[in-house]
Amino acid sequence: MCGIVGYIGNREAFPILVKGLKRLEYRGYDSAGVALISEGNNLNVYKTKGKVADLEAYCADKDITGSVGIAHTRWATHGEPSSVNAHPHYSESKNLAIIHNGIIENYADLKKKLQENGVVFRSDTDTEVLVQLVEYIQNKKEVDLLTAVQVALHQVIGAYAVALLDKNNPRQIIAARKQSPLVVGIGENEFFLGSDASPIVEYTDKVVYLEDGNIAVMAPGEELKVVDVFNEKQNAEVKKVNLNLGQIEKGGYPHFMLKEIFEQPECLKTCMLGRINSEGSHVTLSAVLDYRKQLISAKRIIIVACGTSWHAGLIGKQMIENLCRIPVEVEYASEFRYRNPVVGTGDVVIAISQSGETADTLAAVKLAKEKGAFIYGICNAVGSSIPRATDTGSYIHVGPEIGVASTKAFTGQVTVLTMLALALGNVMGTVSHDDYISIVKGLQAIPDKIREVLKLNERIADLSRTFTYARNFLYLGRGFSYPVALEGALKLKEISYIHAEGYPAAEMKHGPIALIDSDMPVVVIATHNDLYEKVLSNIQEIKARKGRVIALVSKGDDTISKLADEVIELPDTLECLEPLIATIPLQLMAYHVAVCKGKDVDQPRNLAKSVTVE
Ligand code: M6R
Repeated sequence: MCGIVGYIGNREAFPILVKGLKRLEYRGYDSAGVALISEGNNLNVYKTKGKVADLEAYCADKDITGSVGIAHTRWATHGEPSSVNAHPHYSESKNLAIIHNGIIENYADLKKKLQENGVVFRSDTDTEVLVQLVEYIQNKKEVDLLTAVQVALHQVIGAYAVALLDKNNPRQIIAARKQSPLVVGIGENEFFLGSDASPIVEYTDKVVYLEDGNIAVMAPGEELKVVDVFNEKQNAEVKKVNLNLGQIEKGGYPHFMLKEIFEQPECLKTCMLGRINSEGSHVTLSAVLDYRKQLISAKRIIIVACGTSWHAGLIGKQMIENLCRIPVEVEYASEFRYRNPVVGTGDVVIAISQSGETADTLAAVKLAKEKGAFIYGICNAVGSSIPRATDTGSYIHVGPEIGVASTKAFTGQVTVLTMLALALGNVMGTVSHDDYISIVKGLQAIPDKIREVLKLNERIADLSRTFTYARNFLYLGRGFSYPVALEGALKLKEISYIHAEGYPAAEMKHGPIALIDSDMPVVVIATHNDLYEKVLSNIQEIKARKGRVIALVSKGDDTISKLADEVIELPDTLECLEPLIATIPLQLMAYHVAVCKGKDVDQPRNLAKSVTVE
């Protein structure tokens, strides 16, 4: 959701903060702001509706001096996107400034009490309530900022990552987190702060990932102090972050999304590195070795996830059930957490999340853990909250994903789920040696096959141009291709704002067929597998109603090419690995349609990369 950056040291803070905000802009982008303690010890707040570039323009004639500052990109929750509701927020006296990611759930009660005590508010946000409360406590109890923050956080219900500046203590930043991520970067006599490590890696590779309930006090020349609300010292383990600048920049591509689509062959190789041996005869996942007992004794597996990660889970279900013969349920994390689920000892819960910060998935993990389930995480962002809350897991290692539409994370998740099913099936003896070897070899060959599909980019761009008129799209697939249909539809709707639905192909005749006419493009995944004939009949049904068919077919298919309006040929692979190939043209199509429609591909309206509120 919102992005947080902070700097305190001896350099000019503004350029560091703005660069950091640009790296975090994928998190939230309806408004941006910065607070700086100037050379003359003034606390200046500048903020505006719009993007980071708008903030830069707004600050062009302002005093942006100072070596201490905090900055923010907002994704509105309380109050419309506007300059007034943008962060940072001043306290009433303007001595304090705060930035915040998360939601203060009891803000209305707190605000009412503060107003009864004469505090005047400027914005509609829950965030302003917190800074006003801190100042109120500071004044009433005559305490320093740290103590006031501790007392205030004690009264707050909700999720937060916050950073505060105090004009009267200008060489200090105080930051705190609960359920929203915060990372402190440690330099020479300087500290950096970020919602993730991307604004920090340019300056230092030493970071501390704050834990829930941690409050960090950053003052140059002093060690990082980490305490809790009771002022108990907390463990602050310094970790080395493995992230380089190339991974978080566009590298010549017009958008992060296109870069990330094209990175997939390399990313998947990295994902398999050290896990599949060079002969392609064995898969090793350290989590399966270390927790073999818990995993092979699973009565059932429940996969919890949201959005694209949930689609990857649907593929994982089929893979695990086929290869391990363990029943698998796939749940939306947001539903699972609120419906008193039957889960407990003997269950394995697999949480899938690119960001590792999705609030609903994290809550589902905590709930399942409380009830005694064994938790396995499949995440991308190293050191994020979900991997830290799980018993074990496997990172997908596809590098930072910046485009809001998830692409390489999806194929990385499917790759890890495939390796998990293979490794587990192998130790359980539920997969035959021949199947095991052919899937491992098939998986190893996937990066090259994706490269082949990427060569179709220009053709898919041309084809996409002819479909920008459409107001609706239908995506159909069966078996392993059904989740691909869902994923293709999600990609299109989130970045082009065209309404799209994914369906199991056979369900079409139970309703969606009523929608089909000459204005309705239908994308059908119709590769040569066991259900080919049935999908072929579906295509005939669509054509009989004058629908326009875009078919994804196996190379050399000359039956569907005679029927469909557009055909995209895919290289052959095993049926269970087809999602890794068939998803690529759908990602490209969504991308090109959105570009043709002039949409903001990397930062689509109303969305955020990391959904840290429920
Ligand atoms: O970080 P997560 O994988 O937990 O995120 C889950 C969803 O919010 C995410 O996949 C979302 O649906 C994407 N925008 C899809 O492209």
